[in-house]
Amino acid sequence: MNIALVGFMGTGKSAVGKRLAKRLSWKFIDIDSIIEKSASLTIPEIFEQLGEEEFRNLERISIYGATRNNDQVISTGGGAFSDPDIRQWLLDNCLVVCLNASPETILKRVNRRINKRPLLASADDPLVTIQSLLKKRQSDYAQADIQIESSDQGLDAEVDVVYQAIQSYLKSGTK
Ligand code: S3P
Repeated sequence: MNIALVGFMGTGKSAVGKRLAKRLSWKFIDIDSIIEKSASLTIPEIFEQLGEEEFRNLERISIYGATRNNDQVISTGGGAFSDPDIRQWLLDNCLVVCLNASPETILKRVNRRINKRPLLASADDPLVTIQSLLKKRQSDYAQADIQIESSDQGLDAEVDVVYQAIQSYLKSGTK
């Protein structure tokens, strides 16, 4: 089995994913890093030079490839679960955990390195862009198997919450 972490930018998918993988003694896979390596370009460069559509193609290929192996925590980019094919693929092949946070928390977290997020970097008002993108993606994120609300209790506490939620989900049935 694999666990896929989905959710908006800045919800902590990579940070939580790394620690969760350690706790499970599983491998941690970051899809954005795989895309960057395969294209030999950074995410902003891919958006700028190849366009978002090509980024989404690379994202799809990378996710399909990553799920060939097992016992991995896979952190996906914030837009991946809004692609219907990727969404179905992840639901069919992984236990999907969605991390959620308020627009204000998201902005606080992404603000320092906003240049790394091409969809927000060029926005006049990033908070408005976050709100409208979140609204657009809400019904997609809602389809994840498990929903986790971000709290301000710190990373360790959040990883604990995710770990417990996964255990109870698996206890009440199989994926
Ligand atoms: C995106 C989120 C980013 C990255 C790309 C597009 C999105 O990943 O994949 O900039 O569409 O929300 P993070 O969620 O890891 O920031």
